[in-house]
Amino acid sequence: MIGMRATENLTGHRLSVRRTVLDHLRHREIIGVDPRRVTDGSPLPLGVAGVTVASGGVVAIDGDRCIPVHRTLSNLLGTDGYFADRAALTTWHDGGYDPVLYHAVRDFLPPREKAGKNCVPAGTAEPSGRAHLFADLVVYQPGKLPGDEPFRSTGHWNLPGQLEIFQTLTGRVLMLVGGHTRDGRPFLYEQVCGPGSVMAVPFGIWHVTYVLDGPAVVFNLTTDAGDAGQVTARPGEEKYRRAAPIAVTLRRRAGRHEYVGEGLSYWGRPLGAPRTDWLQSLLAPGESLADLHLYASPSRLAALQRLAWEAYARCWPEHGGFQNAS
Ligand SMILES: [Fe+2]
Repeated sequence: MIGMRATENLTGHRLSVRRTVLDHLRHREIIGVDPRRVTDGSPLPLGVAGVTVASGGVVAIDGDRCIPVHRTLSNLLGTDGYFADRAALTTWHDGGYDPVLYHAVRDFLPPREKAGKNCVPAGTAEPSGRAHLFADLVVYQPGKLPGDEPFRSTGHWNLPGQLEIFQTLTGRVLMLVGGHTRDGRPFLYEQVCGPGSVMAVPFGIWHVTYVLDGPAVVFNLTTDAGDAGQVTARPGEEKYRRAAPIAVTLRRRAGRHEYVGEGLSYWGRPLGAPRTDWLQSLLAPGESLADLHLYASPSRLAALQRLAWEAYARCWPEHGGFQNAS
C-alpha cells in the first residue's frame, strides 16, 4: 500500500507540475492563441507529457501550437556580431533576403526556485536570477548564410557568475565557446551536440551556436550561480554583457568546416570540447535537463552549482584537457 501511495503521489506531483507549465505558457500567450492545430510531430523530452516538434520545427503541446519569437537575418545584422562576410550578408539582405534563423521561447518552462521544489506560478512577481533557474527553448532552422556560415545565433557574453547548461533534443548544433580560465588564460573551443547531448559552459564566456542539421531544438537552463562581488541580474536582455564579440566564425563548405577571423591570432584555432566529467553524473539515465529543472531536489541543484564552481576553480575548461577538434 505504501508503495502504491508513493506512486500516486508521484503521479499527482507530475500532473500538478504539468498544470503549472500549461498555465504559465497560456499566461504568457505562448499557447492558446493560434487556432491552427498541429497534428504531427515527434515527442520532445521537456519534462511534461504532450510536447512535440513537427518536421518544420513547430513545437506544440497537446497539438496547441507554441508561438515563439522569430529571429531573422535583420535581427542578426542589427547587432555587432562578427560575420565571415558582413558585406555579402548586407547585399543579400538589401535585396530582400531575410530568412528566419531561429525561433526562441524565453521561459519555456516556468522559473524554478532553487531552495524549494516549486516553479513560479503564472502571474506572480518577477523572480530573481540568484534564487531561480530559468529555462529557454530555441529551434534553429536549417540553412546557410551568404559567406558560408551555417544559420546561427548572434553570439553573446555570459555574466561572470552565470551558469548555463544546454541539451540538444533534435538535430545537431556546433557551439563555439571562448573566454578566460580563472587564472586568466584565453581559450576557444568547439562542441558539437546531437540529440540528447548535454553541455555546460564555463562562467563568463562568450558563445555562439551554429546549426549543422536542423531543425535543431535546444533547451537550456541558466541561473546566477553567485559568487562574492559578482554581478547579479535577472537573466534577460541585460544578461548580454556589452563587449566586443570574439572575431572568429565558422564557415562550412561541402560538409567540412573551417574557422576564419582576425581573432584567431589571439584566441588560437578552436580546440575540441573540454572533458566535463563532473556534468555526466548530473542526470540519471533517461532523465532530461528539463526533468532536472522541474523535479530535482534543492540539494541536487545546490550540488550542481557546487560542482560547477569546483570545476571552475580547477581552471575549467582546461582541467582534464580538451578532446580533439572535429
Ligand atoms: Fe548564454
